[in-house]
Formats: sequence, C-alpha cells, structure tokens
Amino acid sequence: MYRSFFPVLAVLMITVAGCAQKRADDAQEPSSSDAMPENEMVSTNAPDSATAVLNPTEGNSVRGSVRFIKVDDGVRVIADVTGLASGKHGFHVHENGDCSAPDGSSAGGHFSNGTTPHGAPDNDADMRHAGDLGNVTADSEGHAHLDRVDPVLSLSGPMSIVGRAVIVHGGMDDLTSQPSGAAGPRVACGVIE
Ligand code: CU
Ligand code: ZN
Repeated sequence: MYRSFFPVLAVLMITVAGCAQKRADDAQEPSSSDAMPENEMVSTNAPDSATAVLNPTEGNSVRGSVRFIKVDDGVRVIADVTGLASGKHGFHVHENGDCSAPDGSSAGGHFSNGTTPHGAPDNDADMRHAGDLGNVTADSEGHAHLDRVDPVLSLSGPMSIVGRAVIVHGGMDDLTSQPSGAAGPRVACGVIE
C-alpha cells in the first residue's frame, strides 16, 4: 500500500497543478493577443527631426524653440530665442531631459560621452562635448537666431539627443573654461522631443 500510494498522490498533485497553470494561461491569452497589434505598430525608425520648446527658468522671461533636422552631414540646428539680454549666451544640449528644477539644474551637465573636454562647436568631436553648441547672439531686441549644421549631434543611437534638454545661459560660453564654459545661470530650458 505505501509503495503505491505516495507516487500516485504525487502524480495527482502534479496533474492538478498543471491544470491550474493551463487555466491561468487560457485566462491570459485574450489580453496578450489584444496587445499584439499595438506592438506591431511601434516604429523602429530613427526620427528625422526633433524639437525643444524653451521655457524660462524662475525669474527669467526667455522663451524660444529649437528645431533639429537630420541632414547628410549632421544635424541642422535652427533656434529662435526671445527675452534675452543683448549679446552672446551659452547654448548647449544637457544630459537630462528634465527642466523641472526652478534653476534648470535638473538638466544636469553638458551632454557628452564622458571622455571629452568642454569646447567650441567647431572643434573636432574629441575636443568638445557632443552638446557644445557654443552661443546664440541676441540683438538689441533680445532676439537670437541661429541656423547651422552640427557634425557631431545625432538623433539616433546611443548618443541621440532626443529625450535630453536644451539650455540657454545668462552669460557667454567662453568655449574654453572647464567643464561648461563659465556661461552663468540657466535662463531657459526645453526637453528635446
Ligand atoms: Cu549649458
Ligand atoms: Zn560643454
């Protein structure tokens, strides 16, 4: 009796457990198949363009927009910024797409691969941060316009700027001081989307 009872009981328990598992699988089947068309619609294509809407940090009235467009030799950057003091203002891509801090500090430091120094946008890629876009220059009305092709920026891959932030500074980026050009406070911030 002992010799046969325990193996039979064990088989019964495994069978019961197996049926319960099967029922659980059946119950989940409709929802997983519902989700499938949505998954198929997710695009794997890299974006051809991205935009950042610049909003003022606390105590400032600097606003604007920056458009990034993929072109053959890099990314064309078209920026329009208003509410600035006349003159040059540091203009960078910062690492975090987070403008929530009143002073813009949540955007972190200049976007880079972690191995290059701060530099001018015309420097070779290994002598600038990826996010070093130099300065925008405001006229007497406080309006700055910039339109140039940057050979280092990318809208796809591990160094994509999408999901990061554009920062405009109150002062000029001197293009040499480490780690960020001594450009002063952050007066506007926008997430690149
Ligand atoms: Cu900056
Ligand atoms: Zn930098």
